Amino acid sequence: MAEINLKTLKIRVEKEIEKVKSLEELNEIFNKYLGKKGELTLVLHSLEKLPKAKRIQIGRSANELKIFLRAEFEKKSKEIKEEIHKALEEKEWLDITAPGKRPSVGHLHPLTLAKRKIEEIFQSMGFSVVEGPSMEKEWYNFDALNIPKDHPARDAWDTFYLKNGLILRTHTTPVDVRYMEKNNPPLRIIIPGACFRHEATDASHESDFYQVDGLMVDKKISVANFKAIVGEFFKRFFEKDVKFRLKPDFFPFTEPSFDIGISCLVCGGKGCSACKNSGWMEVAGAGMVHPNVFKNSKLIPRDWQGWAFGFGLERLTMLKYKINDIRLLRSGDLRFLNQF
Ligand code: DAH
Repeated sequence: MAEINLKTLKIRVEKEIEKVKSLEELNEIFNKYLGKKGELTLVLHSLEKLPKAKRIQIGRSANELKIFLRAEFEKKSKEIKEEIHKALEEKEWLDITAPGKRPSVGHLHPLTLAKRKIEEIFQSMGFSVVEGPSMEKEWYNFDALNIPKDHPARDAWDTFYLKNGLILRTHTTPVDVRYMEKNNPPLRIIIPGACFRHEATDASHESDFYQVDGLMVDKKISVANFKAIVGEFFKRFFEKDVKFRLKPDFFPFTEPSFDIGISCLVCGGKGCSACKNSGWMEVAGAGMVHPNVFKNSKLIPRDWQGWAFGFGLERLTMLKYKINDIRLLRSGDLRFLNQF
């Protein structure tokens, strides 16, 4: 084991260290020379076989080399780690001064906005908001509302019949009966809810739509009360004085019956597709509660008077926001929806 060997070993290791690119490689080389069975380690182990003088001389050189090489490995390892760090910094560089991206926040649908406004106005006038099932018994949807089977009036409501014997309610009026069965007058309620009719769609009709029924029952209730409350409602809902008219109409569950027309706010009464060029928009059916409806709700007709109405929520929404086609409301078109 000559000293010269240690010198060439040193040069060899230095060269190999220089070429190293990764920590794994460096580790391999470290083991090759300084590991348990590394070349230099073996030199150190074999010292005892040498005569004393040689042992001291080579031992010193070998130990110095070992210390030197360890430092070299340490230096290289530091260099590689710094390079890795630098590469990462460049790759994951983040400009914290760049302007952020604002996530778009959702908002309420115009139908929801209108429904909430209606509820708020009627609640402030002492009305409760009530709901009922949208799958309904024929009894509540028709019979209890004084529309017997085989009566031609049923034709006015094109009905979806379900296999389970129920129907999809064609209006929210059946909830009037459901509520009066369980609650004694005096009462004031509004009933917002989904309704369904087997109908063709056009600019002012959808086959699934919303209604808001209203019902007020007390002693000595008249059409004058009705006009006052509905007038106040229109004023607050449209935030201006609105022209409206009551026209005689027919509903089996009210007597007398009328429909409420409102001067078309889309075209200002001039005539457009939303009002079918009439200048008026029919927004509700209404009337004084028919005695048979009280009877079917287990109330004594002689004791009570009441008025009721049924608004089309879509119609009110279209008038408020000047929308000229009902189909836009369910289109899901963001260009339309983002305007609200
Ligand atoms: N339910 C009727 C419809 O769908 C609207 C209506 C008319 C409701 C008169 C009422 C009412 O409560 O009194 O056409």
